[in-house]
Amino acid sequence: MKKILIVGGLGFIGYHLSRKLCSQFEIYVVDALINYIPNNYKAWNYYTMLRQQELNNLGIPCFINNVNDLSFKQLVVNIKPDIIVNAASMPVALLADINPSQAKQDIFDSQFQLLETIRTSPINLSQYIYISSSMVYGNFLRDDAGKIIPASEEQACHPIDGYGAFKLANEIIIQQYHKKYNLPFTIIRPSAVYGPTDCNLRVTEIFLRKGFEHGTIELDNGGLHELDFTYIEDLCQGISLAINNPKSIHQIFNISYGQGRKIAELAQIVKQMFPDVKIISNECKPFRPNRGAMNITKAKEMLNYRPQVDLEQGMMFYRDFLKHHIGLY
Ligand SMILES: NC(=O)c1ccc[n+]([C@@H]2O[C@H](COP(=O)([O-])OP(=O)(O)OC[C@H]3O[C@@H](n4cnc5c(N)ncnc54)[C@H](O)[C@@H]3O)[C@@H](O)[C@H]2O)c1
Repeated sequence: MKKILIVGGLGFIGYHLSRKLCSQFEIYVVDALINYIPNNYKAWNYYTMLRQQELNNLGIPCFINNVNDLSFKQLVVNIKPDIIVNAASMPVALLADINPSQAKQDIFDSQFQLLETIRTSPINLSQYIYISSSMVYGNFLRDDAGKIIPASEEQACHPIDGYGAFKLANEIIIQQYHKKYNLPFTIIRPSAVYGPTDCNLRVTEIFLRKGFEHGTIELDNGGLHELDFTYIEDLCQGISLAINNPKSIHQIFNISYGQGRKIAELAQIVKQMFPDVKIISNECKPFRPNRGAMNITKAKEMLNYRPQVDLEQGMMFYRDFLKHHIGLY
């Protein structure tokens, strides 16, 4: 059985991926247990323990270690992974704007350290998978009628914020390591991933919480901003199809649901679940890139990727999960 080391494996994406892959591969998890959202500490503490417990129940070894620590290299040498998935990073764009130095350290430096560990360790890696982001594109292009053109992998990337810039810098360094040191890489660009155990205060989590609290959903700029919301199981399907697949080596894939949905539509979905939730609009200067659907044709054609869960269904799954957990933290 091939060994996969999932860095950031106790985070939202890393945890779900570990669970999905553990019947086919020998999985090892490394995570530094960094909480980026102090005011969501209770949820983070609850879900991190839950994830750790579930991975322990599945027999997956979890090591608490930071990629930047000297001991990380020894861990990699001891495990001798065939494949490494890097799902570790500061995960939220707004935080990178607030604290650019920490963003550099936790998005760029840690990934660079990981590449150096791979380059200088006596291991024989067959694949390095980097979880990048749709934020590398910056503002999505528009057609003459002003309609968003789904972003595709071959188009130029022009990130407009620190998060997107560091993610793109990582992609460029990875490709340079391929040219100089034969790094067999695959880059995955997800978008607006949501689902059980997420606790980084993304819009899906915030709106569902408002539902449970019978509260008020606030829409920035009327909620006209579009996102390609992707249920976590679909993202994990896409990543797992790229893993150990010769077709995915030296390739970049958009992995998302493939549909742009307005944040106002998300609010309406939540309102249908919780009719007493209120929705109000505020005027807020747009600070995120204009996005929408990503073009997922490449993943469909090369990997046979087929997203299954639309936003209505995914939010129902997420709400049903939260029902059993939200009162416990
Ligand atoms: N969730 C999304 O919507 C989304 C969308 C696009 C891209 N991504 C990317 O996916 C990756 C995972 O995101 P997530 O939502 O699971 O975030 P998360 O915060 O839930 O998980 C990240 C994990 O990485 C760990 N980590 C961070 N720095 C580390 C280090 N130096 N050494 C070891 N562990 C470290 C953290 O402790 C955390 O458990 C990130 O790179 C993020 O940029 C996420």
